[in-house]
Order: sequence, then C-alpha cells, then structure tokens
Amino acid sequence: MQLTFNSVAVAATLLAPGAQALLRFSCSQLVVERLDPLVTPGVVGSPHVHQIIGGNAFNSSMEYPKLDIPSEATCTTCTFADDTSNYWTAILYFRARNGTYKRVQQMPNSGFESAKGGMTVYYTPSYNNAKVTAFKPGFRMIVGNPMYRTEAEAKKYRQLTYTCLDTILTRSGETMDMPKKVCKAGIMANIRFPTCWDGKNLDTADHSSHVAYPESGTFESGGACPSTHPVKIPQLFYEVIWDTRPFNNPNDWPTDGSQPFVWSYGDATGYGNHGDYVFGWKGEALQTAMDSGCNINCPQLRTQTIAQGNQCSKQVSVNEDIDGWLTELPGGMPVTGAGGKVLY
Ligand SMILES: *[C@@H]1O[C@H](CO)[C@@H](O)[C@H](O)[C@H]1NC(C)=O
Ligand SMILES: *[C@@H]1O[C@H](CO)[C@@H](O)[C@H](O)[C@H]1NC(C)=O
Repeated sequence: MQLTFNSVAVAATLLAPGAQALLRFSCSQLVVERLDPLVTPGVVGSPHVHQIIGGNAFNSSMEYPKLDIPSEATCTTCTFADDTSNYWTAILYFRARNGTYKRVQQMPNSGFESAKGGMTVYYTPSYNNAKVTAFKPGFRMIVGNPMYRTEAEAKKYRQLTYTCLDTILTRSGETMDMPKKVCKAGIMANIRFPTCWDGKNLDTADHSSHVAYPESGTFESGGACPSTHPVKIPQLFYEVIWDTRPFNNPNDWPTDGSQPFVWSYGDATGYGNHGDYVFGWKGEALQTAMDSGCNINCPQLRTQTIAQGNQCSKQVSVNEDIDGWLTELPGGMPVTGAGGKVLY
C-alpha cells in the first residue's frame, strides 16, 4: 500500500526553507539498551531493546513530578540545547539464513552527516497557522502498538510508515509494512504522533488515549480536533534511518522470498512500528519556538553543534550483547509474522 501523507510537504520544506513553520533537528544516540520507563517503569531489562535520544536524565523510571527532567539532565544529544526530552523506538535486526541476528546500525539523515546515529525530530505547529499548545511538563505518549501484525490493526494509527530509500533524499513511496525489496540507501521509519490532546491528562494508562487524530481530514489538511481532544498540539515526527546497506546482497536474504529484517520486539511485518516520547524542554522554549513560526533554523532557541550533542551519552545499565551475531533477539523475543504467526 502506497501512502503520501505530508512527505511531499516535508520534502518541499527541505527544498524551500521559510515555506512552512517547523523545527527539524538532529539528536544523536544517547544509549541503546533494554529500558522502557513508560511501559515497564523501574524494570532494568525491559522486554525489548530501544534506541534512545535526548537528555541524559533518561532512566528506567521517569515518574513525574518525582523526576524533573530539565533540571536533572546535564546534557542532551539534540542540537536544540534546551531540549532534554527523551524520544525512543525499537531497534532493527537482520536475520541471516543461518538464523542468527545482527543489529542494523542507524545512520544520520541528510544535513546531519556528522551525527552519531540517533534520529531526526520534527515539531510542526500546524499547516493552517492555527496556534498550537506546546506539551506540558510531565507529558508523555506512545504511538503505535508492538503487538500489531496486520494492516487492519496498523491502520488504527494513521502515519506510521516506512520509506525504502533509493537515495538519502527519497521522501515518497511510504508503506505501512516493511519494504519487501532491497532498499539501496537504507530503510527510513517514519513515526508521526497524533496532534490533538484532551487538555487534561499528561499521561494515561495506555499512554495513548489522552491524544487523538483530527476528527475530519488530517493534520496536514488543517482538520479540526474532536471535542474529546480539543487542544491542538504540535505534530511530533521521528525519522529513523536504518543502514541496511551491509545486508543488501540477495544471496543473504531468505530463500522463500520474504524480507530479512525484524524489529527488536519480534516483528517481521513492520506493522508493530511504534515510538515513545517524554517531554522535557526547558521552560517555555518549545512554546516560544512554535509561536515564532521559525523554520528549521530557529534563532529564538539555544543551539549546540552536532559534535557537542555527540558528546552526551548515558552509561548502559543492562549489560548484554546486542551487537554480535545473536542466536536470539535480546530478551528472548520470539519473531512473529503476518497475523501473529510465530516464525522463529
Ligand atoms: C535511575 O534510577 C535508579 C532507581 O530509581 C536510581 O537508583 C538511579 O540513581 C537513577 N539514575 C540516574 C542516573 O538518575
Ligand atoms: C551466520 O551467518 C552470518 C552471516 O552470513 C555469519 O556472519 C555468521 O558467522 C554465521 N554464524 C554461524 C554460527 O554460522
């Protein structure tokens, strides 16, 4: 299934800065390990591996207001220096013909070539110049569901997609499932969060019901928020580029014609794509940026270089091999395919 969404708008913005207000910035890798302060708070060794970017206050538990992220963090991997939020996703593995798994590294996006892995983060205020309300201290959310293995399930979330990169600048041809053919320049996972908030809850038990998609139309078409979630929030969007190039030899791919990449949560379909967010901008910085209409460069915000962002990191607390040729996924996650069928 081919989708378009706002990839065209984003590509246009990259070519013509000034056309649409949005922040686009790089955050290098902070740490890669099995921690998940939202789904399994306090557990050192969450079910699957994540890659995490942002401030170094990231921890196995990030309860609010016990942990005040902007005051705890002493550095951030993001180029906007006041952004000590944390953003994370699963990581990708290649499954070899002999059944072993090798981690797929992340690579920097266009314009951020010196970044140490990580991802590209966007905050778009709105496409019709409506005022948006920045996230509040303590706000957090998850989009997507790692249990999903069908397109029907994945459609509950509108904008979790993949781009098979022909070049690093390919920005169209998004699919809801993992690309089935060789992607010459890597696979980009696109994770767009809902843009309407209930205006009350900083979090909910499922980490999702306090946010919603526009009731009609889309965020990109300026669609109105539902009455249950009336507050327009910025569109948070992650681009994560997986460097699949070392695994592009067809002779290393499965003999049955399937594609060889599986997520760290055991998903061979791609439909379980998901992303996590814990807001942690200092003071009013994000609201100021959203109100200013700045585009990519934002003179209203404190910045640091990518090299400075690369210096920020966090000690790994779950000591295990995630990088060798592994006989099973870290945490022992079984791999499932279409409809949840156990494959391995
Ligand atoms: C992380 O949380 C643990 C347990 O709550 C705590 O002991 C530790 O000091 C925290 N680490 C950091 C870096 O804050
Ligand atoms: C499995 O295959 C990979 C990729 O070809 C290879 O690097 C690795 O050594 C193999 N492992 C075993 C145990 O044969």
